Amino acid sequence: MYVCSCHAVTEQRVREEIDRGAATPRQVARGCRAGTDCGSCVRRIQALLGQHGARPCPTPRLAARLGLAAAPGGPGDGTAEAA
Ligand code: FES
Repeated sequence: MYVCSCHAVTEQRVREEIDRGAATPRQVARGCRAGTDCGSCVRRIQALLGQHGARPCPTPRLAARLGLAAAPGGPGDGTAEAA
C-alpha cells in the first residue's frame, strides 16, 4: 500500500527506512523522499514511526500540537534544559 503517492513510496519502503534507523519524518524523507512534495503523507509516516517506538515528530512543539507529547514549555519538551 502506498503511503506517499507523490513519490510512489510504499508502507514497506517506509518501514525499511525505519529499520535502517530513521526516527523522524525528515530522516524517512532523506532515505526515500516520502513527504517531500505535498506533505499530506507526513502524518501517516509519523504514525508508522510511532508504531516502531520512534519519536514521531521533528519538534516537541509539533508533537504537542498533534497531541503526541508534552506541551511546549512543559516537562520533558527540552526547552527547560535550554533556558
Ligand atoms: S503524498 Fe507524500 S509528499 Fe505528497
